[in-house]
Amino acid sequence: MFSLLLRLVLARAPGAAACPSGTTRVDTFAAEGTLWSACEDLQTPGGGLTLVPAADGVEAVHLPKTYEPYAPKPDSEYYLGLGKRRVLDAKWDMLGDALLHSCDGATRTSGLCEVTWARVESAIPVMRYSRGNRQASGNNMMCSPYSPESGVRTFTGSRSASVDATFSDHADDCTDNGFPRPQGYVMNLTAIANGEPPIPPDGWFKYVNFSAMAEGLLGQPSPNLVFYFPLLPQNFSAYGGSRYWTMVASPRPDMQGGREQDVWFRFQQLRCSGARLAPPCELVGTPQYYDTYWFSNSPITDRWIRPELKANASGFYGNLLAVKRYWDRELAAEGMMALSLPDTAGTNGSWLTDQALFSMVRSMISRDDTWHPRYGVLPGYGVSLQDGFQDTFTSTATAALEWGMFPYARGVIDNWLRYYTRDNGMITYRAEMSSR
Ligand SMILES: *[C@@H]1O[C@H](CO)[C@@H](O)[C@H](O)[C@H]1NC(C)=O
Ligand SMILES: *[C@@H]1O[C@H](CO)[C@@H](O)[C@H](O)[C@H]1NC(C)=O
Ligand SMILES: *[C@@H]1O[C@H](CO)[C@@H](O)[C@H](O)[C@H]1NC(C)=O
Ligand SMILES: *[C@@H]1O[C@H](CO)[C@@H](O)[C@H](O)[C@H]1NC(C)=O
Ligand SMILES: *[C@@H]1O[C@H](CO)[C@@H](O)[C@H](O)[C@H]1NC(C)=O
Repeated sequence: MFSLLLRLVLARAPGAAACPSGTTRVDTFAAEGTLWSACEDLQTPGGGLTLVPAADGVEAVHLPKTYEPYAPKPDSEYYLGLGKRRVLDAKWDMLGDALLHSCDGATRTSGLCEVTWARVESAIPVMRYSRGNRQASGNNMMCSPYSPESGVRTFTGSRSASVDATFSDHADDCTDNGFPRPQGYVMNLTAIANGEPPIPPDGWFKYVNFSAMAEGLLGQPSPNLVFYFPLLPQNFSAYGGSRYWTMVASPRPDMQGGREQDVWFRFQQLRCSGARLAPPCELVGTPQYYDTYWFSNSPITDRWIRPELKANASGFYGNLLAVKRYWDRELAAEGMMALSLPDTAGTNGSWLTDQALFSMVRSMISRDDTWHPRYGVLPGYGVSLQDGFQDTFTSTATAALEWGMFPYARGVIDNWLRYYTRDNGMITYRAEMSSR
């Protein structure tokens, strides 16, 4: 139905493909042998992206986008009404006990409460701060491969690369690969290019509202990350609305054994008439694209890289399509079960499915060169001395078997037998760990 509607729209608009209503064409690009329009719902931060081909017979691709503030609610709304201090001071699992025993409708057979998504979500806040240097801004980073606090919030990558691309709460490049710095490079130089005052090195906390930062996924289970940077009102302008930047990090889907992870980036600045990102909103200037490294584009000059060599929309969106095609194929090849879970009061079944599927994708990309286990990501928990922790093996193999992902389970078990088991059946590896 969706593609039929699109085709009707297209029939009336020869040339560049028309965008579905409610979306804005943010760019056009060439990929897979045709021209496309990139159409985005800019009126809400979590608005989706639809890629519409000009050629007949090629299907439009819709990529949903999510928007999850790091701090959606104050502490008083969490901890199941028990109070943060009391819960943190408890010497026993007070929240777990309350989830199971404190409710109106305990089930008749077990006498226990039905555990719903909504209750678990309100038990404890989502991660607001991933350690690291809280005061870092501009060209300093919250996380660093050179300091003991890793400060990693999230990661993306591919099955084949050895090292994942990791990001701090402020979307800094935690392995210091050379990704464009969102603040010091992209935002500052764009401000200058737009004739606005440069952001002073100590002025970032007056420029970005870090407490309103948010993250999301684009086109899950594709592992594309989104970061949202709301800007504070600036005194050089009387503009009454609000502005924010979005940053998308889209990993090259198959590094074919390459050790580092290449990542395509897109940065967009939006301006909304309403306060706090409220619509109507529009794009400011043009989107910026980067192929992994900061020097693949520049907001202010063509001297560093010639215009025809700059990372462009075709590179970025071509990669987004390739990521989707890759994971569609890869998950289909696993022959895994598909779930369709109902919405019940307090639990959105499709969220459970999304969460489970995306966890499998993350499990796959966290492995080094497809099969070698990692306890976490670099810097920090991805160091090799933790690779063989037993729970990484047992939890991954169990989940893969439960989902019917037999090729994945086989590879994980084969790796364990080959590298972490002795001829006499004992393990070759030490350690206790908690599964996370
Ligand atoms: C922003 O750019 C200007 C001009 O290059 C520079 O003087 C200033 O230090 C930069 N600010 C930051 C935080 O990097
Ligand atoms: C920054 O964001 C937080 C969280 O949304 C909000 O409470 C606060 O008012 C914002 N600060 C300013 C100065 O707008
Ligand atoms: C405007 O903001 C800049 C940077 O935060 C500051 O240096 C300047 O004094 C401010 N000007 C006024 C008129 O408040
Ligand atoms: C965009 O970049 C690709 C390489 O990724 C290049 O082949 C193409 O010519 C560029 N397109 C434009 C319009 O510059
Ligand atoms: C459940 O989540 C999906 C995906 O986010 C959404 O489309 C749907 O409306 C939600 N259902 C309910 C009942 O909230």
